[in-house]
Amino acid sequence: MAQLSAVITTSDAGFRTSVTKLLRTSGLSIGIVDEKHAGATAPDLAVVDMRSSPSTALDAIERMRASWPAASIFAVASSAEPDQILRAMRAGANEYLAWSPHGDGLAELDEAFHTALKRTVERARPGKDSARSGVTLSFFGAKGGVGTTTLAVNSAIEISRLSKRPTLVVDLHQYLGEVALFLGVRPRFTLVDAIDNLHRMDAEFLRELVVRHKSGLDILAGGDQVDRPGPHDAPAIEQLLQMLGRSYDYIVVDAGAVTGPVAEVAVFAANTIYLVANPDIASVRNAHRMVDRFEQLGANKDRVRILLNRMSDQHQIGPKQIESTLGHNVHMMFPSDYGVVSSAMNSGVPLTLTNHSELAAQFDRFTRQIVNPTAEVASPEPARERASFLGLF
Ligand SMILES: Nc1ncnc2c1ncn2[C@@H]1O[C@H](COP(=O)(O)OP(=O)(O)OP(=O)(O)O)[C@@H](O)[C@H]1O
Ligand SMILES: [Mg+2]
Repeated sequence: MAQLSAVITTSDAGFRTSVTKLLRTSGLSIGIVDEKHAGATAPDLAVVDMRSSPSTALDAIERMRASWPAASIFAVASSAEPDQILRAMRAGANEYLAWSPHGDGLAELDEAFHTALKRTVERARPGKDSARSGVTLSFFGAKGGVGTTTLAVNSAIEISRLSKRPTLVVDLHQYLGEVALFLGVRPRFTLVDAIDNLHRMDAEFLRELVVRHKSGLDILAGGDQVDRPGPHDAPAIEQLLQMLGRSYDYIVVDAGAVTGPVAEVAVFAANTIYLVANPDIASVRNAHRMVDRFEQLGANKDRVRILLNRMSDQHQIGPKQIESTLGHNVHMMFPSDYGVVSSAMNSGVPLTLTNHSELAAQFDRFTRQIVNPTAEVASPEPARERASFLGLF
């Protein structure tokens, strides 16, 4: 799950947009949760707009401080009057930030806000708040059919098996997606049922929503409607991923090759983003665009890992050429082996247990690094300068 969860309290849509942008560009993974769902799951951070009605805002800060003792509360006011700073601090605010309506907009708030955020992260370090533990791994495809679902599903099974910790795979696709199909399970409920019933989410309801695969992995299937999850569902999905992070140690998200608000949630929520590409021109060109987009969304390069799937001797582009094109190291390569992939999927037995192929060995290496990151060998090097490749970029 995201490193921090945040609530923004304001009646000004412009303020919400600006603060969301500040949070998203901080380089941290921050999940923005809806205040009405936040009561049950205390956020790490609340940003309260004090500019138009300071007394209402002070009441809100007091209420929040009582309900969420460990949360950081940022009061944003139109000026830095000592009297108001004192009242905000007495009500329970940890940080007081001045944002004048006549100033130079967001830039004015930028530095103070990010410094305050750093202090919040220090306060919210794991160990201090034991409620947070889940790791979210989002798998994206540079284009359709590159093997995103294959890599996400097999990794999830292996992570569950190796870690022996609660692990969930979430399919963000519409119309059931393919995760459930790949694993040979029939879901009774889907992601859409989960987001439509966030208000009644507890451990018992969650058990109903997911299907348990024989490996022990839980599955939350893709939506069963043609148009859902749609863009308007993005905030609820963000909220759901926050909640799931409190029940699962590992959440693997199959975000596929789609773009838009739902996919963006998978970026915001991810501790690590895996971008799956094949060694072909279209894949590499799209991967290049997606790495840029991830960066715009606040995901620094150290949160993004490139996975090359379906490598063979006949590949169009070599890994070195791909690395210099993307300005990003290739984290892992998976060989092309259709027989192994399809027989593992058809039998429902984890790929790494079915045989001793090179593909199985790569999955083993890949997932061991996730489960035991301190043993990681392939730590990302600083990105190199991008080279122009075939004049495409
Ligand atoms: N390493 C591999 N070697 C051989 N075949 C593979 C490999 N990885 C995936 N495949 C095959 O490629 C096809 C597409 O895989 P998959 O459905 O995982 O792709 P996807 O990126 O999720 O596609 P979509 O965009 O439709 O969701 C499947 O038939 C799968 O068995
Ligand atoms: Mg897929």
